[in-house]
Parts: sequence; C-alpha cells; structure tokens
Amino acid sequence: MKVLVTRLLPEHTQKRLQDEPLLDLVQWKEDRAIPRETLLSLVKGVDAIYCLLTDKIDEQVLDCAGPQLKVVSTMSVGYDHIDVKALKARNIQVGYTPDCLTEATADLTVLLALSVARRMKEGIRAAENGEWSVWRPTWLCGTQFSGKTLGVVGLGRIGEAVAKRLKAFGITRILYYGRSRKPQAEAELGAEFASFDDLLEKSDYITVCCALTVETQDLFDYQAFSKMKPSVVFVNTARGGIVKQDDLVRALEDGKIRAVGLDVTVPEPLPVDHKLYQFPNCIILPHIASATSETREQMATMALDNIVAVANGQPIPFGL
Ligand code: DGY
Repeated sequence: MKVLVTRLLPEHTQKRLQDEPLLDLVQWKEDRAIPRETLLSLVKGVDAIYCLLTDKIDEQVLDCAGPQLKVVSTMSVGYDHIDVKALKARNIQVGYTPDCLTEATADLTVLLALSVARRMKEGIRAAENGEWSVWRPTWLCGTQFSGKTLGVVGLGRIGEAVAKRLKAFGITRILYYGRSRKPQAEAELGAEFASFDDLLEKSDYITVCCALTVETQDLFDYQAFSKMKPSVVFVNTARGGIVKQDDLVRALEDGKIRAVGLDVTVPEPLPVDHKLYQFPNCIILPHIASATSETREQMATMALDNIVAVANGQPIPFGL
C-alpha cells in the first residue's frame, strides 16, 4: 500500500515505519511542515496519508490524491485541519490519536494555570534583570487555588484530567460547559453543568479544553471576557481559533481579566512582534501541551497503527 507520510516521525515509530513490509513509503523527511505544493504533488496516487495537525487535508488534497485513497491518519487528537465531511463522503477512513495525550496535555494546562496565577513570567524576569532587591510582603503576589471555582469548557478526557488535578490544588467547585451533560464526571468530580454565561461569571479559573468546531470558533470574544471576574485566570491549551485574539488583547488592555496562559494561538507560530507577548500577565507557549517524549512516540505509533490496519484489510483501531 502506497503511503505518504508528511514528516519525520519520533525515533522508534520512524524505524517501525521504515521496516513495515506492507508499506510503499513516500515521506517528507524533515522536521518542518511539508510545503503545500509538495504535499499536492507527493500525494498523487497514494492509498494512505499519515499527516500532522500542520497539514490541511481538504478537497484539493483529496482530488490530487485520486480515488484510490483509503485512509487519512493524523498524529493528533484534534482534527480540525481535516475536512472530515469531505473524507466521509468519499468513503475515506479518518484516524486520529485519542487518549494518549490526555495526561501530558492536562499537566501542561495545570502548569500554565499555576504559572500565570503565581506570576511566573514577571518573577523570572525580575530575578534575571536585577529587579530583585529585598523580600517584600506584597511584591509579585499572585492568587491561589484553595476555595476557588474552576470553569472547564469542554469536559472531555482532557477537561476531566485537568479538573482532577486542580482539585488536588484546593479547587472546591467545578463548573463545566459543553454540548452535553457528563453524568459520570458529575458523580466522580462533583462537577456542575452550567450555562456559558454562568461559567464565565462564577469561575476564578477558566480552562479551554474543547475541540475547535463551527460552534466553538471565536467563542471567547470581548463580550465573554467582559462577563468574567476581573480576577479570573484564563488558560487555553485547545486551539487558538476558540479565542478571538484581538478581543483578548483588548480585554487585557482594559484589565477585564487577571492573567492568561496560552499554548495555542492564531497563527502558529505567533509572530514575535505580536502584542500578546508584551503583557507581563500573559504567558505564551509554542503548542507543546503534548510534548513529552513518551506521548509523542505513542501518538506517532497510534497514527501508524491506523495505516497498518488498513494495509492488512482490518478496521482502524483509532478512527472517527
Ligand atoms: C493535538 O493532538 O491535537 C494536539 O494539539 C497536539 O498537542
């Protein structure tokens, strides 16, 4: 089976890929995104595409590939870069990598929440820039978690893992908002289903853990930020498109929110001269929530398992 792999993979999976007897491999073997023109040219005649979240898989790619294309497997849990409807209409299977990045992503979400709540960026800068004079009772005071309310937008696997972790830091109330109620999470975590507005108004910490869809695109606009407590800590490790970034800048300028932690932006990478970098109360990371060696290897393996299953005429193990 002819497969296009759009990137060099983590070590063990790369070796396994090269050793797979059933695969006739075409690979963009670099540690940077495949240029669109190269993708459109290399995809011709392949039966399978192994892609990343940086590759837009749309009608144009499908047309270039041809009617023999059977499966598109992405090394990511998010699949907003794939036109799933178009693939389904052509009977092309879609594979992704659920579950394996839950823990790593939840860890980083908590890390961001802690870092911005405790003014980590200002603290590091002060220490390195010689602004650290003497211990002062009110200098660089942040806010803590005990007795506070957490609002989780999207209480799926990652949202739940974040809530569990933050409970251990003293969070006493968990509100969540999403498409449907989660009775099991309600029982296990004591989480309460809330309207979007209620969650905005009552939460001390808000974590965005939902997928980017037509419904969640630009969900957090200036109006939403204005409804939050001015003391709120806002963290997004899901997708940049869920936040209207210009409105976030305005909300920070107007002091509508206390602090922000972002692992995702629009675009990615966020240009170094972007205004968001200038706020001392805004920490930006370069989309590394799932970046542990263990998790990335696991993601790469699962995406390959999907392709190998199709090559063997079996159902894909991790499909939509
Ligand atoms: C995903 O898999 O969708 C994540 O964003 C990668 O960290």
